[in-house]
Amino acid sequence: MPVMNICENVLQVGANDPDRVLFDSLMPTPHGTTYNAYLVIGKEKTALIDAVDPAKKSTLLRNLKETGIKKIDYLINLHTEQDHSGSNPDVLRRFPMAQIVGSAKIQEMLHTHLHIEPEKVKVVEEGDSLDLGGRTLKFTMIPFAHWPDNMMVHLVEENILFSSDLFGSHFSTDKAFSTASSEQRYTAKTYYAEIMMPFSQKIASYTKRVREMGPRMIAPAHGPVWYDPDMILRRYERWTSKGVKKMVTIPYISMHDSTRVMVERLAIKLSQKGLSIICRDLGHELDSLTVETGHFITDLVDAAAMVFATPTVLTGPHPNIAYAAMIANAIRPQTRFMGVVGSYGWSSQAVKTLDLLTPNLKAQRLEPVQAKGLPTEDDLKRLDVFADDLADKIIRLPDLIS
Ligand code: FEO
Repeated sequence: MPVMNICENVLQVGANDPDRVLFDSLMPTPHGTTYNAYLVIGKEKTALIDAVDPAKKSTLLRNLKETGIKKIDYLINLHTEQDHSGSNPDVLRRFPMAQIVGSAKIQEMLHTHLHIEPEKVKVVEEGDSLDLGGRTLKFTMIPFAHWPDNMMVHLVEENILFSSDLFGSHFSTDKAFSTASSEQRYTAKTYYAEIMMPFSQKIASYTKRVREMGPRMIAPAHGPVWYDPDMILRRYERWTSKGVKKMVTIPYISMHDSTRVMVERLAIKLSQKGLSIICRDLGHELDSLTVETGHFITDLVDAAAMVFATPTVLTGPHPNIAYAAMIANAIRPQTRFMGVVGSYGWSSQAVKTLDLLTPNLKAQRLEPVQAKGLPTEDDLKRLDVFADDLADKIIRLPDLIS
């Protein structure tokens, strides 16, 4: 990533990582990501907001050199996770006069994760500010967006909000600002699903606070700067609301096509009722477990229902479906209904196991439909009843969104 101007004397000096295919060894990042670092130059002092992932430290150091700055007074860490602090030691070696700035939690976590001594960190609290000389940086705490330590900082005179991970997206680009690209929007949604949805109530309140602040730009720690903040705020307001779409997501595995027959019947019946159906095959290619589960996580931002479709393997659900269920449980979506369908050879504990794997899900459980072996006509009729019941329940929801 080259050095890019955000506005006068505010520069993006971070790094692109277009080849990164997975984040947290969990979430597919088909468009790579960026580790944003912003240089704010005042009349007297200069601040660097965040460092970058250690794998990209040379890009950060090269960019800092290219700006021609001779000193950094403050290295502000908005969040401790290593993709934003891992190259702190390298920055400090080049600019030994720089003072690390963070909250008390960041001070504690920098010690835990990078063994940075607490006395090296200048602690700031809610509402504190740093004067750079004609430029003021004011701090706001946003714990659990998505670690206990996150904070934002507002460049008052330019009305730019540096929002840490909040409002980020995994989208590698050499353009500083967001565009109308639908892919960019989708990566923001995927990012929200994995990183922010587990804390949706807190995220809703932070979104409200940012809406009230009315920044003219939002500069997150990943992905492009939101030049029109309404674009991302509107989406966060919708994603954190209770509203769901008339949509059913069906992660499935089929070993000998019995479960596939059931998925097809279910999808057709639900479609005939006017619902949108997304079927996610978690086993069709070697990497489909990760990739399709990643899409399934994104579906859960606004799907009204999830139906796990699984054969029985050694009495339980197929392990790929168990994996998807565990992730769904961890990210705590608003999804209203949960069902299980599938086949078994001689006996099955698949439904019970999936229930045990999803204690956090508040979704109403539907009566499961399991077929012994290849589904009979009676089994398919039971699926039709399942589909009718689910469709009726969804259509009656009071808070559907389009
Ligand atoms: Fe992008 Fe939570 O680090």
